[in-house]
Amino acid sequence: MAVERLQKILSNAGVASRRSAEAMIVAGRVAVNGKTLDTLGARADPEKDEITVDGTPVLRERYRYVALHKPTGVLSAVRDDRGRPTVTSLVDIPEATLRPVGRLDLESEGLILLTNDGALTELLTHPRHEVSKEYLVAIDQPLGKRGRERLVRGVRHEGERLKADSVQVVSPSGSPERPDPRWLLITLHGGRKREIRRMLSVVGRRVVTLRRIRIGPLALGTLGSGESRDLTPEEVEALYGAAKRAEAREGGSMARAATADPEPPMKPQAPHPIAIDGPAASGKSTLARALVERFGYVLLDTGLMYRAVALAAQRAGVPASDADACEELAGSGDLRLAIEGSEARVRLLDEDVTDLLRAPEVEGAVSDYAAIAGVRQELVAQQRFFAAMQPSLLVGRDIGSVVLPDAPVKFYLEASEEVRAQRRGEQAAEWGERQSASEAERDITGRDTLDSTRAASPLVVPEGAIVIDTGELDAGAMIAAAIAAIEERTT
Ligand code: DC
Repeated sequence: MAVERLQKILSNAGVASRRSAEAMIVAGRVAVNGKTLDTLGARADPEKDEITVDGTPVLRERYRYVALHKPTGVLSAVRDDRGRPTVTSLVDIPEATLRPVGRLDLESEGLILLTNDGALTELLTHPRHEVSKEYLVAIDQPLGKRGRERLVRGVRHEGERLKADSVQVVSPSGSPERPDPRWLLITLHGGRKREIRRMLSVVGRRVVTLRRIRIGPLALGTLGSGESRDLTPEEVEALYGAAKRAEAREGGSMARAATADPEPPMKPQAPHPIAIDGPAASGKSTLARALVERFGYVLLDTGLMYRAVALAAQRAGVPASDADACEELAGSGDLRLAIEGSEARVRLLDEDVTDLLRAPEVEGAVSDYAAIAGVRQELVAQQRFFAAMQPSLLVGRDIGSVVLPDAPVKFYLEASEEVRAQRRGEQAAEWGERQSASEAERDITGRDTLDSTRAASPLVVPEGAIVIDTGELDAGAMIAAAIAAIEERTT
């Protein structure tokens, strides 16, 4: 392909509108082959050059990503001087030099990734980005509860601290009724040399078989020994997302050593992205948080983005009547999303403003700014980019109808005005504001009217959405219904 202007490449790749792409370039967020290019005349070859936005590659066609079920006796290396079989000899892809991501011991079996994408290899193997991995381990003698707890607290071996995130007894046949204490499911981050074998030797057990069955969001699944398959683009995005989340959540392995909670494993094939829409105080956040916890999605509350535009405009003295200036602000690159833990937060000129966005001044003005078509266009492009970069759950007013009309699962929550006004009053109290019942009701109905009668992307029930009346169900029942709907579509 010919050399083209960067903004054209980014918009062709669906990253952002041409204007937003220009703003990203000028803000210094775009790099070509590792070098930031912040002038609008900059060009690149999308076939040959690696183009990144905020460090994340946007075009990955020339990379190959393969999941292999490594048999025992095969070396995790590209080649071996002694002529033993290696993982790369099992997946002969002539046009690309694949390398294994990390190691799996000679005697161990299971999931290993092979790729020629150095950025992903670096992300997944660097100690600051450790994603969790899961191993099915058979040991020579049963290990009781005390022994298992010791592994989770951490043991010392040859001057190193070895520690599992969780150790569960499982049934080798998969039957939940008959767990066998000689079969363990061990989850850990990192992976020091022979970590599982060594920690088990400290509690007097010998490993008979050790099979890795999950790396972050990627599961071994039904891949037979010696078999391999290409990853889907969604799986590649999920791996990038998991590695980045691991870094953001834990701040590296030093901090992680002090935390006891294991990372909840993401359901391997949980469908994504998920869309949740509904009027104010319909229960969207409660449902979103429960699904994030359950399936490992990253949450983007798009209302925060509209609120941030309102805040930025107020700070700059730009009224909602000046649509062009508001659109300019929304696409300027001053506003950015940053993932922290499992949620996106909003930064305005590098200041994290997320906690300021519920202030009454913003609350009272946001619907006017959200009604501006140009603002919506900018933010929708950013929301789509976000959803393409990691397994995401987006919450808002137009997610299922406009932002992600092809989302595999969409929810629309509703509740009577009375119920929602009561909830809003309670929320206001939580955010430290005093609001009477009638004020809360006025606030709710005013916002609803603006949001559902505006010309640009009014609040509607998206086609194909699962509609839940949260006034009738309690939170537990609503969450259970939504989980069941997602699991129904999980392959
Ligand atoms: O969900 P929230 O209350 O934080 O939303 C703030 C405002 O932004 C509200 O007026 C609706 C609007 N909004 C929107 O128009 N589209 C979205 N996707 C999300 C929010």
